[in-house]
Amino acid sequence: MSTPPPAIQPPFLYGTAWKEERTPALTALALRAGFRGIDTANQRRHYVEAGVGEALAAAYRDGVVTRADLFLQTKFTYRGGQDHRLPYDPAADLTTQVAQSMASSLEHLGTDHVDSYVLHGPASGHGWTEADAETWAAMVRERDAGRARRVGVSNVSLRHLEQLEASGAELPVFVQNRCFARVGWDRDVRAFCAARHIVYQGFSLLTANPEVLGHPLVASIAARGRATRPQVVFRFALAVGMLPLTGTSSAEHMRQDLASPDLALTPAEVEAIESLAG
Ligand SMILES: NC(=O)c1ccc[n+]([C@@H]2O[C@H](COP(=O)([O-])OP(=O)(O)OC[C@H]3O[C@@H](n4cnc5c(N)ncnc54)[C@H](OP(=O)(O)O)[C@@H]3O)[C@@H](O)[C@H]2O)c1
Repeated sequence: MSTPPPAIQPPFLYGTAWKEERTPALTALALRAGFRGIDTANQRRHYVEAGVGEALAAAYRDGVVTRADLFLQTKFTYRGGQDHRLPYDPAADLTTQVAQSMASSLEHLGTDHVDSYVLHGPASGHGWTEADAETWAAMVRERDAGRARRVGVSNVSLRHLEQLEASGAELPVFVQNRCFARVGWDRDVRAFCAARHIVYQGFSLLTANPEVLGHPLVASIAARGRATRPQVVFRFALAVGMLPLTGTSSAEHMRQDLASPDLALTPAEVEAIESLAG
């Protein structure tokens, strides 16, 4: 069953991991700063999804945004990636766990659908397993039932994606990966995505790449454009077609991250940054 395109596809996603009790306030700050894409997960170990929902409710109440303005993305996380605070019955089969996790996410976020539902990570680092096939099929059914507009996968290798494709299952609309410059900014996975019109979401663009932030080329582009080095990295990510994530806790950095599209990069600069570290 085909679904309508999401109402919006923002240029940037605000990530809500690791914010604990500051989640409502920082999510509210991000919405006020202008972020319209929010990334969370029903994984209490690293995220407070209910806190994101609190911020959304307040933002609707205060007239900052409406639900239709937003792109909300959450994730299904396997038992192995969770602590004891589970959003599903661990004794249930995976299909049931997906349904329970989704119901809990919708309750946390105060909505009847998310714009994107992402498999947080495959069951094995070595390949796409039977468990992944069952979970993915359950997620696609959630999409077909209207509780998610799109489905995606995270923390995947090229091998995972090739095996998923070979299985004949539906391809993801989003791939969300940690993006290391030393492997050509996840070159192989990005090429797979580009060839299939899959949107590549990059996280840890700053924290995974200190050698890029410290590189003279990035410093000179930042100086020339009166920008910061993180802005150069985010502008580069946009230029190569990524949908970047930032989880900044700083109002000033939120403003800078959202303004990064204003920095002009030449095609030669984009090419040079792409091959800077690997
Ligand atoms: N799928 C997954 O498994 C997975 C894993 C990890 C993360 N994620 C998602 O990705 C989001 C982002 O995570 P991340 O790993 O990229 O790290 P992050 O939490 O965004 O951390 C980025 C770091 O960069 C700094 N920063 C951001 N903008 C800056 C700027 N303009 N100038 C200077 N420093 C800046 C931040 O410091 P300040 O706070 O001081 O600005 C922070 O220390 C998470 O919240 C989560 O939603 C997903």
